[in-house]
Amino acid sequence: MTEVSTATIYDRVGGYEGLQRIATDILALHHANPVLERRYGSSPKSDDELITLVTELLCSVTGGSETYTGMNMHTAHTGMNINHEEFLEVLDDISKALMKNDVSQADHDAIMMMNFGLKNEVLAH
Ligand code: HEM
Repeated sequence: MTEVSTATIYDRVGGYEGLQRIATDILALHHANPVLERRYGSSPKSDDELITLVTELLCSVTGGSETYTGMNMHTAHTGMNINHEEFLEVLDDISKALMKNDVSQADHDAIMMMNFGLKNEVLAH
């Protein structure tokens, strides 16, 4: 009998710990990114707080049972006047972090599409 796989992206990338590693790499890339560093350098949230929130968000959209405890994406980015270049750089850093952590091409692409879908909630408003 053919086995039907019920594994989720969350399972394949190593669950909470795997996504926490990816979130940590994303933030490190943002800090090193000349287009983004002023944003994250001046955030009132600590790196640990941001890593936890991004990890929770990634868990909750990839099949994990964790609850995202942060603000929704529209509220979190209100008044920041984020432009297209910054949005593209954030996506680029996410892609690099996924590749660094050997996420498969199919899972990489699915995660990238989910992030791209947040564009209208994140851009200047
Ligand atoms: C797909 C795109 C994005 C996702 C998934 C995302 C996700 C998040 C999350 C989960 C938080 C924490 C929310 C909370 O505090 O409750 C956050 C905060 C933040 N985001 Fe984003 N973000 C995205 C795009 C961007 C972009 C393009 C920028 C601009 C460079 C940006 C800058 C920030 C900053 C500076 C904070 C900290 C806010 C503060 O200072 O309190 N984000 N983001």
